[in-house]
Amino acid sequence: MTRYAEFHRRSITDRDGFWREQAALIDWQRPFDQVCDYSHPPFARWFVGGQTNLCHNAVDRHLQDRAEQNALIFVSSETGEEEVYSFRELHAEVQRMAAVLQSLGVKQGDRVLVYMPMIPQAAFAMLACVRIGAIHSVVFGGFASVSLASRIDDAQPTVIVSADAGSRASKVVAYKPLLDEAIRLAEWKPAKVLLVDRRMAPMERVAGRDEDHAALRQQHIDAQVPCVWVDATHPSYTLYTSGTTGRPKGVQRDTGGYAVALAASMKHIFLGQPGETYFSTSDIGWVVGHSYIVYGPLIAGMATIMYEGLPIRPDAGIWWSLVEKYQVTAMFSAPTAVRVLKKQDPKYLHQYDLSSLRALFLAGEPLDETTAKWIADGLGRPVIDNYWQTETGWPILAIANGIEPLPSKFGSPGFAMYGYDIKLLDEHTGEELTGANQKGVVVIEGPLPPGCMQTVWRDDARFVKTYWHSVPGKMVYTTFDWGIRDEDGYYFILGRTDDVINVAGHRLGTREIEESISSHPNVAEVAVVGVADQLKGQVAMAFVVAKDASGLTDAAARMKLEGEIMKTVDEQLGGVARPSRVHFVGVLPKTRSGKLLRRAIQAVCEQRDPGDLTTIEDPSALQQIKDLVCA
Ligand code: PRX
Repeated sequence: MTRYAEFHRRSITDRDGFWREQAALIDWQRPFDQVCDYSHPPFARWFVGGQTNLCHNAVDRHLQDRAEQNALIFVSSETGEEEVYSFRELHAEVQRMAAVLQSLGVKQGDRVLVYMPMIPQAAFAMLACVRIGAIHSVVFGGFASVSLASRIDDAQPTVIVSADAGSRASKVVAYKPLLDEAIRLAEWKPAKVLLVDRRMAPMERVAGRDEDHAALRQQHIDAQVPCVWVDATHPSYTLYTSGTTGRPKGVQRDTGGYAVALAASMKHIFLGQPGETYFSTSDIGWVVGHSYIVYGPLIAGMATIMYEGLPIRPDAGIWWSLVEKYQVTAMFSAPTAVRVLKKQDPKYLHQYDLSSLRALFLAGEPLDETTAKWIADGLGRPVIDNYWQTETGWPILAIANGIEPLPSKFGSPGFAMYGYDIKLLDEHTGEELTGANQKGVVVIEGPLPPGCMQTVWRDDARFVKTYWHSVPGKMVYTTFDWGIRDEDGYYFILGRTDDVINVAGHRLGTREIEESISSHPNVAEVAVVGVADQLKGQVAMAFVVAKDASGLTDAAARMKLEGEIMKTVDEQLGGVARPSRVHFVGVLPKTRSGKLLRRAIQAVCEQRDPGDLTTIEDPSALQQIKDLVCA
């Protein structure tokens, strides 16, 4: 058995002993009495009886040894701003933000929704919330008003923290009008809206509701707000993610388990040492941003880079210039970003001194071999694919180089990470597949390890119903991903079993997009599927049956309606969800019982065999789609 295999085995067979050791990586105000309470499966309660604070572990505890070292490095290639905060400065800013939130009425257990571009105040707000035991809910800035409104209604925030605008490719993206519209649409009304004014877009302020961040910060410039010690099981945040239904789920994370899981992952997987610099190119609106821009690196005592901008502006060397300048030791990105860089002149990879860099971690979507090879050769560093989900908060599959450096295999994110008892189940029989190279659904036997979701926010029943099923004597969590395991124990992920698609590493529910398209007055029916794309991994493609198709024989009329539908999605959900194409058909392929044949549509779009079609109502429906996409 390899050293890592033994490490993993122990995490399962001596679960409590294993995690008790890992728990020593963080500070506890009060030690825990029990490592894992799994008396009510599938609900796992980690480090029961213990008290701690996420902000203390990310910021305060480093003041003793590294107060003057870099903590947060903000770089915007959009505005040209570059700001470096030491741990001491970060501590002061977070306390100011905490005092401001308290002055607006935020108390322990209250929710604070953060709808922000990639600016330091977003990280201050997150850290300030967990400092005072409030629960943050960050909504990706690329989402528009309807997406935002549904999250406001579910999270019911006391305060929303936002800003006038972000910027993308030098174009100002105003946030405030989208936020105002979302609050108008939502049933829940926040008491206060705290606004960071970057002076990039005009803001209309609602009297009595909207507050100016800079003015309030000034009032609390000397604020000293101590960390509130919370139970290890106290929720630290919720983060919305898409599934099969149109309604996004609020993934709820705890405090103690999450802190331990992140500290352990920084050591065993991400090779993070205190005093070094970590650069994750994700966005705080996604789980990678939560775990590996904000909390993970800071908990490890590292500086973290927060980057606003594209990877290719002002040129494709921008990221590498930051690696050189800040001596980045570990970098985390997504395959799509690397594919974008791959289209640029390779000279940019060789213009900077990258000797500080130990490894590049990639996650969020399948990593194809050409992309992996290109970047691994270009950097001359290991590229480590890792597979996980919003729900788990940290890698399920990876290579734990901190325990034992094992070779990677192209196309595989590696092995089951410690704490995860992974099985592959047969789709039809539900039986465990124990042989090599058999395709099955990737499941995790309960309890989920520390750091994973506790439940769906305010909906325990939905958590159980969505993710869990019983097999004799135990409960298993489904990842909704297909996978295989080869003879050496390496896993390969083959895509989702449900209606979730992955566009440029952004997870989207096709049902949400369908609901938005259906709101267009001339749409009778719609099907949205994910279609393989060279650059983005997948793109959304829509097939619409129009209510009034009389004018649609004309190409200009089709283009006009396609444009209108795309605009509807842009306005409601945001540009990230916009389908790449909207095709018009007379009828959608369905089974005789009326079920939409999504997998068949997807197969046809990808020029694959659609499989068994014996139950199809009208075979010409699929032929129409074939003719359209192959035209
Ligand atoms: O389908 C898997 C895919 O992304 C989904 C999770 O997306 P999200 O909740 O946004 O979390 C991303 C965290 C990195 C998974 O169910 N996925 C994620 N990583 C990989 C992947 N597919 C293949 N290879 C990966 N490394």
